[in-house]
Amino acid sequence: MSADKDLTLRKEEKVTVKTFQKMKQRGEKIAILTAYDFFTAKILDELGIDSILVGDSANMVFYGAKNTLSITLEQMLYHTKAVSSAVKRALVIGDMPFLSYQTSISEAILNAGRFLKEGGADGVKIEGGTQMVSTVKRLIEVGIPVMGHIGMTPQSTGKFGGYSVQGKNEKGAQYLLDSAKALEEAGCFSIVLECIPRELSKKITSSLKIPTIGIGAGLACDGQVLVVNDILGLYEEFKPKFVRRYAELAKEIRKACKNFIEDVKAKKYPSEEESY
Ligand code: KIV
Repeated sequence: MSADKDLTLRKEEKVTVKTFQKMKQRGEKIAILTAYDFFTAKILDELGIDSILVGDSANMVFYGAKNTLSITLEQMLYHTKAVSSAVKRALVIGDMPFLSYQTSISEAILNAGRFLKEGGADGVKIEGGTQMVSTVKRLIEVGIPVMGHIGMTPQSTGKFGGYSVQGKNEKGAQYLLDSAKALEEAGCFSIVLECIPRELSKKITSSLKIPTIGIGAGLACDGQVLVVNDILGLYEEFKPKFVRRYAELAKEIRKACKNFIEDVKAKKYPSEEESY
């Protein structure tokens, strides 16, 4: 079935890291959603989404884990391949899982390279501020585009003591501003700002030439990213304050499947017309 014409916003040209740069210069907001499978990625790409992040949030919304830590590189590559095979236009970003880039620069290069070579991604995302600068520099030197990610970085919730807004005090805010500048200097093509006060993301966004992508970071960011299962109402375990639900698909699935079960039990399915 083809996508509804009225819903199609597709522009033809492939989105690259340069497109991100131009969009910031033009003041055009960048829209990003996560996806983990072929059919969701195909719908998003046909709609004209700017970028698809194959997030390690898959560990929670796809595999049902409590956090993102235990997802493996192989699992992330599996999802990245599924997404890339559906995408013609959007920039596909593979999220590097916990301990696939923090242990050494050479391991980071080999693992990030697999997202491009095997996963078909256009770039990778890594979490962390100033401490990741030398890794980012090397990845970019070997030709791997990198998106940074600072603020409430989910791979560090152990260190933060849970999911809490970062950069609320002067020292924390200064660290995030310094990190953003250092990551830009190292060559990141954009930076995700997660769960930080809106005034701070405004300051960071206006200090950088590369686009900032917010998640729980207010309107001033150059773009926004959300987890697709959250906006579709498919993930019901919890709903962060910044999530806007655009659909209630879990409820719809429950209703539809309940109807099927009832029809089977009541011998109402299949009908004459549904039988050979
Ligand atoms: O894993 C993820 O989905 C992310 C977010 C930025 C949404 O890292």
